[in-house]
Amino acid sequence: MFGEHVTVAPFVDGQYSYSGSAEPLATFAIHPGAHALHYASSVFEGMKAHRQVDGSVAIFRLDDHVRRLQNSTAQLCLPVPEFDVARQMIVDAVSANLDVVPDSPGSLYVRPVVFGTFANVGAAATPSQTGLFYVLNCPVGDYFAGGIRPLTVVVETESPRTTPQFGMVKSGANYAMALKTTLEAKETHGADQILFAPGGTITETGASNFFLVDDERVITPALSSEFLHGVTRSSLVALANDLGYAVEERVLDVDELKTWAASGEAFLSGTAAIAAPVGTFIHGGETITLGDGQPGPNTLRLRQALVEMQIGKSEDIHGWRVTVS
Ligand SMILES: Cc1ncc(COP(=O)(O)O)c(C=O)c1O
Repeated sequence: MFGEHVTVAPFVDGQYSYSGSAEPLATFAIHPGAHALHYASSVFEGMKAHRQVDGSVAIFRLDDHVRRLQNSTAQLCLPVPEFDVARQMIVDAVSANLDVVPDSPGSLYVRPVVFGTFANVGAAATPSQTGLFYVLNCPVGDYFAGGIRPLTVVVETESPRTTPQFGMVKSGANYAMALKTTLEAKETHGADQILFAPGGTITETGASNFFLVDDERVITPALSSEFLHGVTRSSLVALANDLGYAVEERVLDVDELKTWAASGEAFLSGTAAIAAPVGTFIHGGETITLGDGQPGPNTLRLRQALVEMQIGKSEDIHGWRVTVS
């Protein structure tokens, strides 16, 4: 489902021109020679607006998502939206769709997109001189409707998810590159997700970052250009510190994962998944079950801490909530 209102700003004459208010959702007319259709000059963001316990609506970590959008557009040589314009367009889109924000655990998914519209098929080595920036909203339900269930994750050590220098860019082309490997692994192993660990070094899955946790430690791969710098990842690192865990951001490899499985927990983090427990890994024909295969207490504790921040149940000590209504 889509919210019925969008905010839109075409990039013409050197700037994004935003009318200052949301408009009804409608189809765009795109020139068949548009840069994005040929040369994949398209980026997006994904964040959520949550109904708060007091009934208001707040966007979670809006500024961090705007900064990541700016970085993605810069990496693909698209015109970079100004911070204040992008922020306002997101706030206005959510404000216009307030009537469809579900109660928690549902939320309003917020999807800003920037793509190159310049019509010139000879522009493979030239940036798009024009573009379109819009913000689309979708009311979404709980990823784990029917209860939190442990995931089965295939560990892929041959193929990377995408090219190493572009993993941190939230571009549609990265998802297209990962799709075939993901579908094949899902079909062969009946898996929920693929953990990309090229050469044995763990990066991320197709739509989430990766964590190990036990009673004392939280471990996640150190940031690099090879994978998306998840806002949820950063939130969980901060909350883990607040809760007194020793947080390690460093190289994590598949051998360590196997040793860890005997006593520790693992989970995937992302805007959609929040913190989703892994029950089983499949690697090279080997099935590795974490503990008893059920969601572990530390994963659920971190997940709960994050949800309470998102829905206004705990004090906003990090300044993460932007109230819209
Ligand atoms: C490839 C990939 N990695 C990680 C994430 C997690 O990022 P975030 O926590 O900002 O949603 C996502 C989800 O957007 C993703 O698509």
